[in-house]
Parts: sequence; structure tokens; C-alpha cells
Amino acid sequence: MIFLWVVLAIFLVFGLTVIFGAPYVPTRKPDVVDAFENLYPLKESDVVVDIGSGDGIVLRTAARYGAKAIGYEINPILVAISWLLARGNPRVTTRLANFWLTKLPHDTTVVYAFGVSRDIGRISAKLQKEALRLGHPIYLLSYGFELPGKKAIRRSKSHHLYEFR
Ligand SMILES: C[S@@+](CC[C@H](N)C(=O)[O-])C[C@H]1O[C@@H](n2cnc3c(N)ncnc32)[C@H](O)[C@@H]1O
Repeated sequence: MIFLWVVLAIFLVFGLTVIFGAPYVPTRKPDVVDAFENLYPLKESDVVVDIGSGDGIVLRTAARYGAKAIGYEINPILVAISWLLARGNPRVTTRLANFWLTKLPHDTTVVYAFGVSRDIGRISAKLQKEALRLGHPIYLLSYGFELPGKKAIRRSKSHHLYEFR
């Protein structure tokens, strides 16, 4: 009986995140590597923020290039998994937070988004506002989705790269 309640609770937690944004589907690791090598070559000075960081695959990959990686994730189960998988890695931080209610760290250089089409326009508006607030450009790596009304500066088969000034 307890097992059934636990399974139900896990389904509920994963199901409820859909109200706030994209459901959990991880980016394929070769695609993240391709993005950080060919589309936006990541440097040690970069600070990558994944807005809905899931199990943290993007964060751990970014850290391998020497970058600082911060993830916001609304699902506490995924925050725990992400923390476990990156434990001991000083470059990776995962925060239990709703991205829509969060301000980007002042040193953010790249934002990673694997969203749903419903949210893409809203993500674009938020990043434009944040770039103005921070006073420096922010790059967006969007997995799968093009931003309406904004031209990508580069694209690959899986990602689009945008700049917000
Ligand atoms: C499509 S998955 C992408 C996971 C990861 N970024 C990757 O590429 O592997 C989207 C993630 O965003 C999380 N999420 C959805 N809405 C969110 C919100 N408002 N704030 C923070 N995380 C959110 C979901 O729980 C899910 O783990």
C-alpha cells in the first residue's frame, strides 16, 4: 500500500510540473556536447544557467568544459537526482526554484532552455528583460525551438543560438 502511495506521489510531482513549464525529458548528451563545442564554444569564464535543469545533464557537461553551471528546477525529485549525480563537483549548483520567479545570477553568460512551444515567447521576453537588467549580453541555447520574431545567430541540427543585448 505504501509503495502505491509513493508511486502516486512521484507521478503527481512529475505531472504537476507541466503547469509551470516543460515536462521532464533530458537532452541527448551528444547534442549538448555538440552545442558546447560547435554552436557556442564554452569557455572557463562562462556561467551557464539551465532554466529547468532536470537531472542536470547540461550542468555536468558544461562543468567538464570548466564553466560554472547553475540549474533551476521545480521538481524536488530531479533536484535530488541532479545533486547526487554532481556531488563533489564545485562548478555545479542546482536550486529548487521556479524559473519564472527567479532572477538570473549577475555573471550569467549563457542560458540553456529545453522548453515547450507554449513557453518560448515568454522565455524570450524574460531573457530580454534580464539582459537589460544585467547590462551585458546573454546568449540563449534553445534545444529544438526557434524563437518567434528573433533571428538565430547560429543553428545546428538540434539547437538555435540567440543573443540578447
Ligand atoms: C524538457 S526538461 C529539460 C531538462 C534539462 N534542461 C535537459 O535539457 O536535459 C524541462 C525541465 O524543466 C523543469 N521545469 C518546468 N517548469 C519549470 C519552472 N517553471 N521552473 C524550473 N524548472 C521547471 C521540468 O521539471 C523539467 O525537468
